[in-house]
Amino acid sequence: MFVQTFNSDIAKFVTILRAGGNIGLPTETVYGLAADATNGLAVANIFELKNRPKLNPLICHVADVEMAKAHGEFSSVAEILADAFWPGPLTLVVPLKSDSDIHPLVTAGLGTIGLRMPRGIARTVISEVGNPLAAPSANRSGRISPTEAQHVTSEFEGSDLLVLDNGPCEEGIESTILKVNGNSLILLRPGTITAEQIRATTGIEPTLYEGDDIAAPGMMKSHYAPDARLLLNQTEFPQDAAVLAFGNGGDVDAAHVFHLSQNGDLREAASNLYRGMKTLDATGVSTIYAQPIPVEGLGIAINDRLSRAAAPKDI
Ligand code: TXA
Ligand code: MG
Repeated sequence: MFVQTFNSDIAKFVTILRAGGNIGLPTETVYGLAADATNGLAVANIFELKNRPKLNPLICHVADVEMAKAHGEFSSVAEILADAFWPGPLTLVVPLKSDSDIHPLVTAGLGTIGLRMPRGIARTVISEVGNPLAAPSANRSGRISPTEAQHVTSEFEGSDLLVLDNGPCEEGIESTILKVNGNSLILLRPGTITAEQIRATTGIEPTLYEGDDIAAPGMMKSHYAPDARLLLNQTEFPQDAAVLAFGNGGDVDAAHVFHLSQNGDLREAASNLYRGMKTLDATGVSTIYAQPIPVEGLGIAINDRLSRAAAPKDI
């Protein structure tokens, strides 16, 4: 059976999730592969479909703060953050409540839970299902996250997954992940909500997580990778090159050029990043040359994803 894409028929997707099935779920960041987080079989099937290591926990998506608090312990700082940034692209990793009925596969036995309230249609789906939805990005493990329904269908061709098509994702890169333990904040994954915004809201400077595998097993060095080799911060390239271009008014002379943002707008670049990598990859080139992107504000998250995409794949 093939993957099918539907528009707007939300009831159908809610029914699938309630029955323990999986769907492709659009969020403001990227498309997720969703399951009822309390249903062990439904969750196990996500790991299966993605070929994802079982030690890598999944984010639980909630419809409201009440649903989040049924499963996670919210310190006053966590509450301030949820108030300020939800619904939106901020995942809070907080202590797991002992009476939570989230399936242990979701949290990988870490004693914490990653919670986020997405913006838009996903939230409607969650609220109609009535349980949190576990949803990693809807790509096979280690590959580029999908920002359009079509990316999901080609990633899982041959399975009978249905994808709720809500057009291209607004943000285009995954949520910021912040571990909140009382007053301590650890930035596990940079994203569109920046460290500066977090500091301005809480008065606390988030610590950068430097490790590879302890607090966020999914933060492997090679991730989000295209098939082609990706070279970063390139200012010169051969004429037949494939170039992931940024800024300079779009002035690039090469065979294949994908403009992340001609006028150097980081938001626009983030929303185009994965589509750009996929588009250049699809030309069959062996190397993609990425122009420099400033490492500031949202550029920190963009450079984080680029350097994971550029990392040797055997790490
Ligand atoms: O924007 C997003 O976050 C997207 C959309 C679909 O919501 N989801 C996403 O999920 O990027 P995924 O599975 O590709 O990345 C989730 C990351 C992983 O690196 C995982 O290790 C980390 O979140 N994570 C989840 N729960 C955690 C926990 N309890 N402690 C530490 N890290 C956790
Ligand atoms: Mg992912």
